[in-house]
Amino acid sequence: MVSKKLIRLGLHLLLLLPLVELVWQAIQLSQGLESRLGADPGKIILEDLATISVWLLLASLAVTPIRKIFHWSLIQSYRRMLGLHAFSYMTLHILSYQAFLLGWDWAELGSEIINRPYILLGLIAWVICLAMAMTSYKWAMKKLGRNWLKLHQLVYLAAILIIIHEIWQAKSALGEPLIHAAILLVLLSVRGYFKIIKRSRTGSASI
Ligand code: HEM
Repeated sequence: MVSKKLIRLGLHLLLLLPLVELVWQAIQLSQGLESRLGADPGKIILEDLATISVWLLLASLAVTPIRKIFHWSLIQSYRRMLGLHAFSYMTLHILSYQAFLLGWDWAELGSEIINRPYILLGLIAWVICLAMAMTSYKWAMKKLGRNWLKLHQLVYLAAILIIIHEIWQAKSALGEPLIHAAILLVLLSVRGYFKIIKRSRTGSASI
């Protein structure tokens, strides 16, 4: 039987593949060879990193519903890995914006945050995810106790802010952002459903 460690390693490598592909495309472009990054590589890289990140975030949010619906407890151990990879890609998305579109001009980033509300929403979402990434280890779990769960439940707020950020900047190309929004809505509904079931069970148990 394939060991858990091997599956983890395989998943890590799989999750790194999109980044490797982007680096490969950038190298091709720098050598004057054919590359899908085209005439505006910075923008394509920024968008690709963002899209990968949203899919990984949604995948990490889908883990608990999948575990509950299919009684598949093994999947739970991969939630943190998916969340951390999502966080890495969203950080690279922000860095690529800073590098390719703003030329590392931090003052410009400040004025973008003030003048474009969708950027502010993205930043708030990222700060929430940063707090979660920094406390995703066992020692933090022990230290924070019940507050750990409260903090980590903010992931749903972060996801909502990210989808608004995505839809807001999309202008006319709303296809993928709306698919993301629909998936998030389903995940939130499933979560709500399980919460109601749990409450009614504990309620009837205490009668
Ligand atoms: C300070 C924080 C952030 C900044 C400055 C920022 C910047 C941007 C910009 C400028 C765009 C528009 C790109 C374009 O014109 O095509 C964009 C799109 C997007 N951002 Fe962010 N972002 C931030 C945070 C986030 C976070 C945390 C996420 C989470 C995944 C995210 C996900 C997205 C997505 C999905 C898109 C749409 C990409 C596409 O068009 O395919 N952003 N972001």
